[in-house]
Amino acid sequence: MADKEHSFEEITTHLVTSGFIYPGSEVYGGLSNSWDYGPLGALLKNHVKDLWLRHFVRGIEYNVQIDPAIIMNPKVWEATGHVANFHDPLIDCKYCHSRFRADDLVKKEIPDLDVDGLNQEQLNDIVQSGKIVCPKCGKSEFTPIRQFQMMFKTFIGVTEEKTSTVYLRPETAQGIFVNFKNVMRTTRRKLPIGICDIGKAFRNEITPGNFTFRTREFEQMEIEFFFKPGEDQQWFSFYKENCKAFVEKLGLKDEKVRFRDHEPAELAFYSTGTTDIEYLFPTIGWGELMGIACRGDYDLGRHQQASGQDLTYLDPETNTRYLPHVVEPSFGLDRLMLALLCDSYDVEELDGGKDSRIVMHLEPELSPYTIAIMPLSNKLNEKAKTVFDDVREDFDTIFDTTGSIGKRYRREDAIGTPFCVTYDFDSENDSMVTIRERDSMKQERIKISSIKSYVRSFLDSKKVK
Ligand code: GAP
Repeated sequence: MADKEHSFEEITTHLVTSGFIYPGSEVYGGLSNSWDYGPLGALLKNHVKDLWLRHFVRGIEYNVQIDPAIIMNPKVWEATGHVANFHDPLIDCKYCHSRFRADDLVKKEIPDLDVDGLNQEQLNDIVQSGKIVCPKCGKSEFTPIRQFQMMFKTFIGVTEEKTSTVYLRPETAQGIFVNFKNVMRTTRRKLPIGICDIGKAFRNEITPGNFTFRTREFEQMEIEFFFKPGEDQQWFSFYKENCKAFVEKLGLKDEKVRFRDHEPAELAFYSTGTTDIEYLFPTIGWGELMGIACRGDYDLGRHQQASGQDLTYLDPETNTRYLPHVVEPSFGLDRLMLALLCDSYDVEELDGGKDSRIVMHLEPELSPYTIAIMPLSNKLNEKAKTVFDDVREDFDTIFDTTGSIGKRYRREDAIGTPFCVTYDFDSENDSMVTIRERDSMKQERIKISSIKSYVRSFLDSKKVK
């Protein structure tokens, strides 16, 4: 199997042209850095979410899922510090008017400097010192740093006043913390407990880009795992192992995935450890897919203080009350998808170089469609359709009727469909079809009645246990 490096541009062009992802609002000329998932992207997304749910919710006995609202009481974001601190330091080049995050630019220019440890005044002094160069025009004059609020503001009700200001959540996590008490009460569970959520988050990023890597609207899959204080390292290790196992199930190439422990200086003051999982994207380099953070009792403590509600847990074994500590594994779904799509894309030479095919070597259970049903001739469409109707009850299936069978194979390879089933003129008499597997391109003649069990046993054999 060929394994050449392909550029980010080549891959993303394929994703747009084949129907995984479309530019957002395209008929109106688009909207900068907004993307829509097409039919293939939406199916792939469902499959990744489904795998995450099976791995982390059904698969971990302590965990439950909730689905909290996107628009929350703004006091939530005051309590967490997002209203005061969820800012990016923004600067503009005075010559070419390009806009940058000051910290990013300083990090690039002075890699040895601990930029995260600087306050705004110190950062501004460096920006204004003449040592920082605009990457676009090469000049060194910038506007003073302005703090840019990253939460999207909107209003509830009919008046656009300060008192009716609300925010689109910048992370799903806080919907979990504010429901901790509800979940404990209604599930009658004891610690430890993991509360899981999949949903949209919104950040008004200054420098979105690299296709869907950094966008203003994205989906997160987050867990807040609550436990008795003192057990932090035990559950931190537990989730590092579990996240590793989950990433293995996704089938990303080992050498393109790394775990990066945060240096003590990078940690928030309340955190005793954070590890990121990063992926080596073509052209753009290592990028964060997710983070696992020890958050202590910081979030519950802030909400308890700000709301005046008792958020402590009564330990039935010791009869003492305490605020549980938390480990938070937080995945970005869109980043995982992008990593999967980049990782699986390949162009293979066939017939000793006379021909080639684009093929997405996605894990078969993640591929948008599992099976393509292909009648050899339009005269066979009606009979083949009955096979399609039966198979699609169990699998995401596509009915592909146009072009030669060879062309249809290429089309399905290019979107990662693991199985193509050809219904031909013999099928009518022998009730058999030809099934062809994507990666090996091997073909077999099997009974129509055994298509589902054949595919099921293949998928089961591929599953990472
Ligand atoms: N609750 C913790 C939290 O939100 P984060 O590191 O800010 O932590 C978690 O976000 C994950 O969400 C990241 O690892 C990344 O995968 C994804 N993410 C964050 N900002 C994003 C953006 N602008 N576009 C796409 N994904 C993003």
